[in-house]
Amino acid sequence: MTYESDLLYDWYMLFHYGLEDDILRDSAFSADRLPVGALEFPVATVKALRQDEKVARALDLGCAVGRSCFELSRTADEVIGIDYSLKFVEAAKAMQTGEPYPCHIYSEAHLRENITVALPPGCRRECVSFEQGDAMNLRSDIGSFDLVHAANLLCRLHEPTRFLSRLSELVKPGGKLLLATPATWMAEFTPQCHLPTGSTLDYLQEHLSAEFDLQEVTEIPFLIREHRRKFQLSTSQTSLWIRKK
Ligand SMILES: C[S@@+](CC[C@H](N)C(=O)[O-])C[C@H]1O[C@@H](n2cnc3c(N)ncnc32)[C@H](O)[C@@H]1O
Repeated sequence: MTYESDLLYDWYMLFHYGLEDDILRDSAFSADRLPVGALEFPVATVKALRQDEKVARALDLGCAVGRSCFELSRTADEVIGIDYSLKFVEAAKAMQTGEPYPCHIYSEAHLRENITVALPPGCRRECVSFEQGDAMNLRSDIGSFDLVHAANLLCRLHEPTRFLSRLSELVKPGGKLLLATPATWMAEFTPQCHLPTGSTLDYLQEHLSAEFDLQEVTEIPFLIREHRRKFQLSTSQTSLWIRKK
């Protein structure tokens, strides 16, 4: 699975920006029989930060095609989105223009049609910037943030502990960290020697609790359409942490 492929681009553009009618089009699924929020995952993980007052800076690591960054811009005056995939970062930048942008929706694995997707209203797109980069090896001058968000990134990293070890430097004292993970660890991304030995939450606590207080753990559902008869329905264990002062 590579996040540079045309197929993953189409899946993620629909996942992040697709309307309910597009995501469920011609399928046997209906929104009222799905877990609440499953069609709005990048919105729900930002809401799980529970941040109503405005803050100065937010960072979204593994931002993919960028929807959570635009959601973060509702509360943060500066948002940086970083993803390893150049194709995803280019798509996020294209969405930032505010113009409808093309992708495909699949009826069967080999049959697709053109649609366009658009930014939802109310995002402050001028506050957002996107960069291609590695969450395990961020540039040294990136600074610190009031909010750090990383959804469904952890179990796609080669060395997740290296990523975790940088977080206390990235989050300002009193700032918030949101980590969401379905814990779908796979050898193609994370070699055995870098896997957690016990539960993923225990692993996070082991590496974060010296610098962060755990506030809340929830499960956030998400639905990714492959084609009209094939969807990925999962939940992501979502933990909210506050950096100790
Ligand atoms: C499963 S997707 C999740 C994307 C998005 N946050 C979401 O919730 O839809 C994982 C993302 O992490 C990115 N990624 C993988 N390894 C990365 C790394 N080392 N640094 C930054 N991004 C990475 C991939 O390119 C992909 O966009």
